[in-house]
Amino acid sequence: MSHNILVTGASGYLGGTLLAQWASTKLPAYQKLLVLVRTDEQSEAVKQYGAEPIRFNIKDEASVTTAIIENKITIIYFLIDATAYETQVQMIKALSEVKKQTGQDVHFLHTSGAKLFSSHAGFPTNAPIADNDPALYHLQKTSCARYPFVAKALTANNTIIETALEYGVKSYIFIPCVVYGKGEGFGNKTSIQTVAIVNTAKKLRRVCRPDPDDYTWPVSHVSDNARLYLEIIRNILSGKEIGHGKKGYYLASSGSVSWNSIYTAMAKRLAAQNIIENDKVELADSQALEGMGAALGCPKEMVPLFLSGKCTLQAKHGHEIGWRPEYPAEHILEMADAEVDLILQKS
Ligand SMILES: NC(=O)c1ccc[n+]([C@@H]2O[C@H](COP(=O)([O-])OP(=O)(O)OC[C@H]3O[C@@H](n4cnc5c(N)ncnc54)[C@H](OP(=O)(O)O)[C@@H]3O)[C@@H](O)[C@H]2O)c1
Repeated sequence: MSHNILVTGASGYLGGTLLAQWASTKLPAYQKLLVLVRTDEQSEAVKQYGAEPIRFNIKDEASVTTAIIENKITIIYFLIDATAYETQVQMIKALSEVKKQTGQDVHFLHTSGAKLFSSHAGFPTNAPIADNDPALYHLQKTSCARYPFVAKALTANNTIIETALEYGVKSYIFIPCVVYGKGEGFGNKTSIQTVAIVNTAKKLRRVCRPDPDDYTWPVSHVSDNARLYLEIIRNILSGKEIGHGKKGYYLASSGSVSWNSIYTAMAKRLAAQNIIENDKVELADSQALEGMGAALGCPKEMVPLFLSGKCTLQAKHGHEIGWRPEYPAEHILEMADAEVDLILQKS
């Protein structure tokens, strides 16, 4: 059966890279690739990838429902917002209506984040845990997040899984981690955490780490991240039954590195570029945290949420379905100079 696919967030870092790779990847047949856009420029840009632009207001229930049902969309890749769930719930309900009308299987992929599987979310971090561990749903459901922002995103994951189950939609929770590398799309080319490191360093004229402990975090090159999105769609289009719903978590990561190693590698380049006084990485005191918060636009208490934390989640699920990341975890350290230069060019 042929699918109509909707991809969102294509002018973004992750979505742009996904769309660029989509165009050069051989996938099983599908009917149509629709891409949500908000401007005429975006509309023109997505056509170069063989996609059809579509516009609707994701905040308007009727607009979301009509777009999905009228276009008989059967697969949605959501890459807009990891914290809210209202739009996703609406999309899931509309997919279920398409299923009723066409008899086709319908799929919803939500892009989440590794923070929700970390110390920030009160997730257990005393041992490695695989993304295909059947306990994951229960662990998320019972997690007590330290920050309201994270609690909201946890609710989003749980609500999406539960709504999809209720409405007969297969759901997938896609988990990007610290993503690096130049975005390959037509829009945003830079990531989140690496930009945060550069911005806080610029503000303080030094690199500070918010935590006394040197925790590790999963990392991924942006093209490997896109490859996992594509491997999931390849499996769906092939009609293969892959883990979904409560067993539908997919971490895009080739391994973990310590935050301090990332800081140290980036500090070297920042010092060489005269952005900071020297390449020493210092533990942030209260005043430094205040400055880092100002650079990130958040209170100092929230700085660790953006720039540290412990996450022991491991990527196994993607490997099970055929995903093979190209770059080992340490590649992020080798690419630190290029990452810093990319971010400085943008700012
Ligand atoms: N990058 C990472 O390292 C990373 C790590 C973990 C999780 N994530 C999560 O993954 C998701 C995507 O991240 P990203 O780095 O690709 O973000 P991004 O570069 O900021 O892209 C966001 C995308 O969402 C679109 N968007 C925002 N509001 C919209 C709306 N109301 N209607 C339609 N489109 C809208 C943007 O379109 P416009 O261009 O029109 O604004 C853009 O295409 C986010 O939820 C993020 O938290 C990212």
